[in-house]
Amino acid sequence: MLFTSVIAAVALAGAASARVEDLPRHLRLAYRDAINTTATNGNNASLPTIVYFGTGGTIAGSDSSATAVTGYQAGALGVQTLLDAVPEIINVTNIIGIQFTNVASDEMNTTLTMQLSRNISEYLASPDVFGAVVSHGTDTLEETAIMLDLTIKSDKPVVIVGAMRPATAISADGPYNLLQAISLATYAGAAGRGTMVTLNDRIGSAFYTTKTNPRSLDTFKAYEQGYLGNFVGATPRFWYEPAPVLNKPWFNITGFTTLPHVTILYAYEDMNLDIPLISAAIASGAKGIVVAGSGDGGTDSTWGAAWSALCKNASVAMVAATRTGDGSDAPDGPGGYTISANSLNPEKAKIMLQLSLATHGYNITAIQKDFDSDYPTFG
Ligand code: SIN
Repeated sequence: MLFTSVIAAVALAGAASARVEDLPRHLRLAYRDAINTTATNGNNASLPTIVYFGTGGTIAGSDSSATAVTGYQAGALGVQTLLDAVPEIINVTNIIGIQFTNVASDEMNTTLTMQLSRNISEYLASPDVFGAVVSHGTDTLEETAIMLDLTIKSDKPVVIVGAMRPATAISADGPYNLLQAISLATYAGAAGRGTMVTLNDRIGSAFYTTKTNPRSLDTFKAYEQGYLGNFVGATPRFWYEPAPVLNKPWFNITGFTTLPHVTILYAYEDMNLDIPLISAAIASGAKGIVVAGSGDGGTDSTWGAAWSALCKNASVAMVAATRTGDGSDAPDGPGGYTISANSLNPEKAKIMLQLSLATHGYNITAIQKDFDSDYPTFG
């Protein structure tokens, strides 16, 4: 277990700061736990080994009432407790369990998720490790999911899982979701499919899948692209052969501890009254602004003119996404100034833009090419 302990400690040391005492309290505790806590379900040489990173969320949530599904503490239980709740895992895999952090997912950030990505890549490089599972709060799960999808270069399965009911609730969905996620990470047919999101018997692509409902167990969907597969019990069933997102870019994040700051602004009637928000974003250091535009990425014309002028003047990248929740923006093409998010929603577009800016700098053509990955032209 020495290997595990060392990697876990390095993960959190690099995640936020070189000085543990400078970290916020919840991260200090997580750091301490990461050094001392690695989880395992024993060792059976005939079973594959996977690495499991716990990050917190409702799947690790706890409340004194078994009926509480709001107001509970997210990120309260550790990875060993979550694994102990699913003793059936012992028949599926050997686990290297790591408490990466233990927080509500609103506390996650791209410094942490890049570090998580690097740690997963290190483990997947070992021939002894078959795949990786991450448990995560559902609120920002899709953002971490696309970060992993865009930065891990491995055919081995990477699965991100959450739950909508805390672990202490009647009919908690976490234990079965975790069993399915771990089964998926050990399943040979799961290779080469990019990072996958699984909850509620469904398997989705991290690139497209989004949280669609703040309460329902059946919340993670990609309406336009659909699911990759489902589960019968704990057994994964894929609908098709592996079909990765066409021309999906891969970003080498070696050496990055932070990414350029990108702001998301939202479109609405009367937004012309809020033009100062654009200047405020630029003044706060934004190197890119994603607009959750109306319809096909639209904005009020006065606001749009100010957006364009202020961003051009400050060399700030402009990405138009849609607030409708689905569908593709029309691609503006490399000659245009506003970059189209294509089918990425605003929060996923923000991650893509951050990685793209970190890689290419302020190069609109190169950034648009990254966003065009799932908008191929044939013939
Ligand atoms: C969170 O995102 O940490 C809380 C909500 C959830 O996990 O469902």
